[in-house]
Order: sequence, then structure tokens, then C-alpha cells
Amino acid sequence: MKKILVTYWPQGGNVETCAHKVKSALGGDSVLKPLENITNDDLQQADVIIAGCSTVGAETWRETMGNNQWNKFFANLDKKLIFNKKVAIFGLGDQVSYADHFVDFMAQLKEEFQKSGAHIIGKWPVKGYNFKESEAVEGGYFVGLALDEDWQTEFTDTRIKEWVNQILSEI
Ligand SMILES: Cc1cc2nc3c(=O)[nH]c(=O)nc-3n(C[C@H](O)[C@H](O)[C@H](O)COP(=O)(O)O)c2cc1C
Repeated sequence: MKKILVTYWPQGGNVETCAHKVKSALGGDSVLKPLENITNDDLQQADVIIAGCSTVGAETWRETMGNNQWNKFFANLDKKLIFNKKVAIFGLGDQVSYADHFVDFMAQLKEEFQKSGAHIIGKWPVKGYNFKESEAVEGGYFVGLALDEDWQTEFTDTRIKEWVNQILSEI
């Protein structure tokens, strides 16, 4: 069985709640840890990484000195620990209030993981969402699982279960 590490930032909100749901859907001996707590050993031991994020505005994620722990993670990352590994991304967003930037940050995560030599898995169809623009869409698919706890909370559990099954078949 492949070793799966589920990690996420930020803590204390929707991303954390959904990260726990992803972990439950995976079952087995997958590891769940907030991004701030993961060590090089955790990365070394993982065959597959599932990364959770939210989108909270372009000025935040492009501000490398800001509090965005994903930026800090990539700034300090030893790329060897990610090279050739499979990475799946899930992203929280709000498709109504931020319809022009829905789950944009997933695109940043994808790019950064790819720069480290990771293979991105777990793309997800845009069907069933109602937004205008997203940097995280390529050819009719989100680059990972989009979740909207502000407007489509009723779909979250099913989406996570289906996506996790998809991930398990892709690894
Ligand atoms: C200041 C602010 C900016 C946001 N900007 C975006 C955005 O650009 N795109 C988007 O899809 N969601 C945006 N959101 C919605 C959040 O991503 C969403 O509510 C998410 O579930 C928050 O996750 P958290 O509770 O783990 O922080 C924004 C929310 C806030 C408060």
C-alpha cells in the first residue's frame, strides 16, 4: 500500500475540516498533518501527497514574505523530497463572492509542486459549479478538487469520497 500524506494550510477553518474528511475517506494508514508540522522525514516517507489550500486573494498568495505558509513551505523545500512523487490538490473557495477567482490558489500550488518534479493527479470536472473564471481550470477540469463550503456545502462529502476513490485508482 502506498503511503499517503495529507497536509493542509490554513488551520482552524474549512480547509482543516475538509482535510479531516479526506483523511477519513482514505482510511488505512494515511498520515494527516498541518503543513506547519510536517518534517522532511514525513515528505521522504510519503509516496503520494495530498495538499489542501484555500484562496484568499491574489495579494496574499503573491506576497512571499506574508503569512502564507505554502509560500514558506516552497521557499524552504528540498525539491528531492518531492521529485517524481504524485501530488493531488484540493482547494476551498467561494464561487459566488469570488466568481472571477474561484479556487485560483490551486493553480499556484500545482505550479510550485511541478517545479519540484511532482506529477499532479486528481483533476476534477467543472460540471456542477457556477463561477466565471478560475486560474485553476485547464481544459474543462480543475487541477484538483474544488470545494465550496460557503455555497455548496451539501456536495462536499460526496465530492471528497468520489475524488478520493479517483486518487486511489490513479496511484
Ligand atoms: C478576504 C477573503 C478573500 C477571499 N478570496 C477568495 C478568492 O479569491 N477566491 C475564492 O474562490 N475564494 C475566496 N475566498 C473564500 C475562501 O477561500 C473560502 O471561504 C474558504 O472556505 C476559506 O477557507 P478557510 O476557512 O480554511 O480559511 C476569500 C475569503 C476571504 C475571507
